Amino acid sequence: MRILAIESSCDETSAAVVENGVKVLSNVIASQAAMHNATGGVVPEVAAREHVNHIMPVIEKALKEADITLAKIDAIAVTYGPGLGVALVIGTSVANMLALVMQKPLIAVKHIHGHVYAPWLDSTKKTQFPILSLSVSGGHNELFLMKDHMQFEVLGETADDAAGEAFDKVARMIGLGYPGGPLVEAAAKKGNPDAFPFPRASFSDGRLDFSFSGLKTAIMYHLEKNKPQLRDKKFLADTAASFQKAVIDALASRIFLALDKHVEVKELHLTGGVSANQTFRTTLEKALKAYNSQHNRHIVFRTPSKLSYCTDNAAMIGAAAYFQYKLDENRYKVFTYVEPKAAFV
Ligand code: KG4
Ligand code: ZN
Repeated sequence: MRILAIESSCDETSAAVVENGVKVLSNVIASQAAMHNATGGVVPEVAAREHVNHIMPVIEKALKEADITLAKIDAIAVTYGPGLGVALVIGTSVANMLALVMQKPLIAVKHIHGHVYAPWLDSTKKTQFPILSLSVSGGHNELFLMKDHMQFEVLGETADDAAGEAFDKVARMIGLGYPGGPLVEAAAKKGNPDAFPFPRASFSDGRLDFSFSGLKTAIMYHLEKNKPQLRDKKFLADTAASFQKAVIDALASRIFLALDKHVEVKELHLTGGVSANQTFRTTLEKALKAYNSQHNRHIVFRTPSKLSYCTDNAAMIGAAAYFQYKLDENRYKVFTYVEPKAAFV
């Protein structure tokens, strides 16, 4: 089954053709990062205009690269939320129109489910449930227990800001650009992660939720207190490295608490924009290896096989759409319009 997937929830316009949820025939991404760098963040109206300009050429390119015509596509999938309302409306409108005109099934996918399914892309390995899946991006932090396909039991979520958002804010505070994640990661490479003991929030009631607003505030006070050093490259690198370590520690601690609690878990998945962070991946992989030998477990670690599958892309939406479709094919026999949904309450 070949699905044409469309993603436009934030600042990437993307279209992909994915076969049976795993084989990526094309994955075209038009990023607006350079444009938003000038403003230090995404300006919704600017993002919307860019999506309008790019969406049709991106779809055309995705079909061409996959060497397929629209007529031969089996279904259309689209991200319907959460995200920027003015951005989602462009992807969903085009998807509705294509599905209606071409008489194809239309699959509405939650953005976060797309991230969770990114490790399936290009993978030939059989997945073993239950899976503990941590998805960390600029808009969300979600820790799911998946007992089977499309079953998402929420074990933890963010109480305030997402980790990627903290990376973006800290990057802005220390004078780097947007998006902050890769820039903070590069700066941190030259710094000492133990230079500053930034706080790691935890919840006394044993919840596995996340909180990063206190860390952001701590960095703000730290920069204010050390104003004379703001031009010192070593100081900034130490700040970036110590911040990054605090985020990784906070995320990893929830993972191991969840693994202690759910002894049946067979795989650990890490997804979302922040999973592109190499230090995060290697730290977690090493810690899991130690945990496995200490507890006589054999938990498999999986991340998306390409960095372009970590940050927003349409291929992951095509993967999630396939497994969603397979669970209830009849539901898609009657055409229903997809409505964009900026937030879920
Ligand atoms: O998944 P994504 O593309 O969009 C959302 O769904 O939000 O994630 C974008 C986020 C941004 O906050 C960005 O700073 C962060 O992921 N990010 C990273 C890295 N690459 C992207 N954070 C840390 N290290 C990275 N290498
Ligand atoms: Zn995302």
